[in-house]
Amino acid sequence: MKVSVIGSGYVGTTLAACLADLGHEVTNVDIDEDAVAAIEDGVAPIHERGLDELVAEYGGTRLRATTDYATASKANIVFIALPTPTDERGRIDTSIITAGTEQLGEVLGEAEEMPLVVVKSTVTPGTTERELIPALEETSGATAGEEFDVAVNPEFLREGSAVSDFLHPDKVVFGATADRAFETLDELYDPLVAQTDTTVVRTGVREAEMIKYANNAFLASKISLINELGNICKEFGVDAYEVADAIGLDERIGSQFLRSGVGWGGSCFPKDVAALIAAARETGYEPELLEAVVGVNDRQPERLLSLLDDHVDVEGERVAVLGLAFKSGTDDVRSSRAIPTIEGLLNRGADVVGYDPVAAENMRAQFPDIEYAESAADALDGAIAAVVVTDWDEFAALDGEFDAMKRPVVVDGRRIVEPRDGIEYEGLTW
Ligand code: UGA
Repeated sequence: MKVSVIGSGYVGTTLAACLADLGHEVTNVDIDEDAVAAIEDGVAPIHERGLDELVAEYGGTRLRATTDYATASKANIVFIALPTPTDERGRIDTSIITAGTEQLGEVLGEAEEMPLVVVKSTVTPGTTERELIPALEETSGATAGEEFDVAVNPEFLREGSAVSDFLHPDKVVFGATADRAFETLDELYDPLVAQTDTTVVRTGVREAEMIKYANNAFLASKISLINELGNICKEFGVDAYEVADAIGLDERIGSQFLRSGVGWGGSCFPKDVAALIAAARETGYEPELLEAVVGVNDRQPERLLSLLDDHVDVEGERVAVLGLAFKSGTDDVRSSRAIPTIEGLLNRGADVVGYDPVAAENMRAQFPDIEYAESAADALDGAIAAVVVTDWDEFAALDGEFDAMKRPVVVDGRRIVEPRDGIEYEGLTW
């Protein structure tokens, strides 16, 4: 099939490359000329495990890129994978996706046969019907449900394993009203469904929009719940990880996302939970549980630092922050728990030295004035304490490096450092 993907961010590029891998002819459309040139040259414009290989294999052949929206008019399916950032009230800001949809509608108005338009971006329930379909109808002059169809196909890709998540999904969700929209999506995903036996969920447009939010809200809630239980465990002198291992054996609970610690960050959970809360409030419903989920998450970095306070006064002292990325395997620092941790240390008058194997440069934009070390050993050298924020494997191997500390206090927010003789080790929830 001929597919256009509008947007070459991490979702759009992953989608485009994976669809090319499934045998489709894909064109990625983006205003970013550098990203377009990179894809045409077979170079992935973003870092995502497994993506380099796919773009190298198909870039310039089955996977093309262009700045010209007009190519979308020749496609059988057009995906909209444009960003929906957060506005000042926590809601999604639809200005970028609406502008892109209008631009798309203008070129689709010229198409001999209009393609199926599929919303891939994360949008709150009702957005497609209320904003995107009218934008397409107005600019194309065509009527949805008659001359063209619109569907919603949310993504469940994790940063760092997006390619593998796409090619081995737990589920694929199609939200649409017209049979022909489901048939077109079936045809597109058929190679994937045939090779993985994944479950295809066929549902309505609003339901598909909501499934994405419910998925992320549930996972964020699960982590906040294990963090709350972990905080209670700590007060009782109980190891929350042993408790999590045991409760995870109950299939109704499940063993994943039970790692308690300094909390969740990234570009998805904080933004999506905030947007769902804001959207719910606009209906007049007060989502108290989700507000508490955010509240617990916001508190975890300060709990980490209060455990540190129990050991040392950090004022005027060098303190190492091990890990700056929001999770291991990525250089992304958006909403990383390292941010409030560093702020809390600076408020205490500490000299902060950050270390991360890949994310230091991104954190520098946020905190240009703190020191960044080249290695964990350099960060620990002379530090009165270390706090661990990201679960990079290399922190598990740290050993003699702690000997160079002024005082070897280690407060671990991710249960990654191995406690050893000679360090004052404190776990956040164990
Ligand atoms: C998340 C979802 O997992 C994806 O399914 C979804 O598609 C994506 O958001 C999105 O909406 O685009 P991602 O943000 O890449 O993916 O990261 P996760 O691996 O889910 O981790 C999120 C945060 O939770 C990280 O800060 C991680 O350290 C934290 N976490 C995760 C825990 O604190 N404990 C756990 O047990 C698991």
